[in-house]
Amino acid sequence: MRISLEEASRLILSGQAAAVPTETVYGLAAALFIPEAVDSIYALKGRPSNNPLIVHVSDPSQVLSYSRGPIPDFQPLADAFWPGPMTLVIPIDENRIPSKARAGLPTAAFRIPSHPLVRALIAQTGPLVMPSANLSGRPSSTRADHIETDFGAHFPVLDGGSCDRGFESTILAYADGRWIIVREGALSAEAFAPILGYVPDISGQVADKPLCPGQLFRHYSPKARLHLIEEIAPGLSGAVLGFSDRAYPASCRLISLGRLADPEKIAENLYAVLRQIDREGIESVWVDMDFIPHGILSTVAERLRRASSKTCD
Ligand code: TXA
Ligand code: MG
Repeated sequence: MRISLEEASRLILSGQAAAVPTETVYGLAAALFIPEAVDSIYALKGRPSNNPLIVHVSDPSQVLSYSRGPIPDFQPLADAFWPGPMTLVIPIDENRIPSKARAGLPTAAFRIPSHPLVRALIAQTGPLVMPSANLSGRPSSTRADHIETDFGAHFPVLDGGSCDRGFESTILAYADGRWIIVREGALSAEAFAPILGYVPDISGQVADKPLCPGQLFRHYSPKARLHLIEEIAPGLSGAVLGFSDRAYPASCRLISLGRLADPEKIAENLYAVLRQIDREGIESVWVDMDFIPHGILSTVAERLRRASSKTCD
């Protein structure tokens, strides 16, 4: 059910949830300081309670007010990427951020989104917890109709059109004297080099020693089985998730993510295409992984690997 900004604000202030657009993906928003509202977010998504939420605010000074102390590189990072698709995990004053929102961790994740509708909403409601608006484990939502598929036609959605980034924010955490990437996202690792003086390591999201249990879960998965292939054999047949500027055997049906020459568009399309595969009832898809995972294509490759995983549900 499509709702107005005023209705979204009223629902959230009364302790209910609403789906709202951001520049990355749609979020399932609830008021940070209403405990039942935070609980309802975990319940709605079917999200494990040990997978913490991101706190969305409107101003870097708010983030600093929750922090336990000074944060290295905070101001240059905030100046360069906020409002926008960057999330920072920082040690916090545990009296100031409800434990449930951060799954009991001594840190919390913060983001200042840039989408005008969510900014207007936060101005009215104050800080929001906002996971991606999808059932846990499923592809995120980049359009209002994706939310209706997951949560039903009556679920309240503030419709802001298609999300132009298409991927979630890039999450950075400070560990052992350096920032590392906890989750790859809409900003590539290389984008941080001019600010930090180094490319932050992406190993923070590797499953053997995650900073946060959430990183272990299966993510972004359609119902269809995705089979990743590094090389397209001439005799291949069936549905192939690939690229429209590349040739595939005539026995294949191309499900296009867009042109490899336009990686931003691929990022924007990915979740919608994964959802389309399910809508069409396709059960099994080959995935063309024969590309260099540089820049945003590194996030594309990571999302496809996660989406195809069957081990960590
Ligand atoms: O772009 C985005 O970030 C979207 C939009 C709606 O803002 N939100 C989003 O939230 O992707 P969600 O809940 O789907 O992903 C949040 C992830 C968690 O899975 C967890 O890995 C990480 O943020 N996270 C949250 N708090 C953390 C913490 N204290 N330490 C490490 N990771 C944390
Ligand atoms: Mg998510």
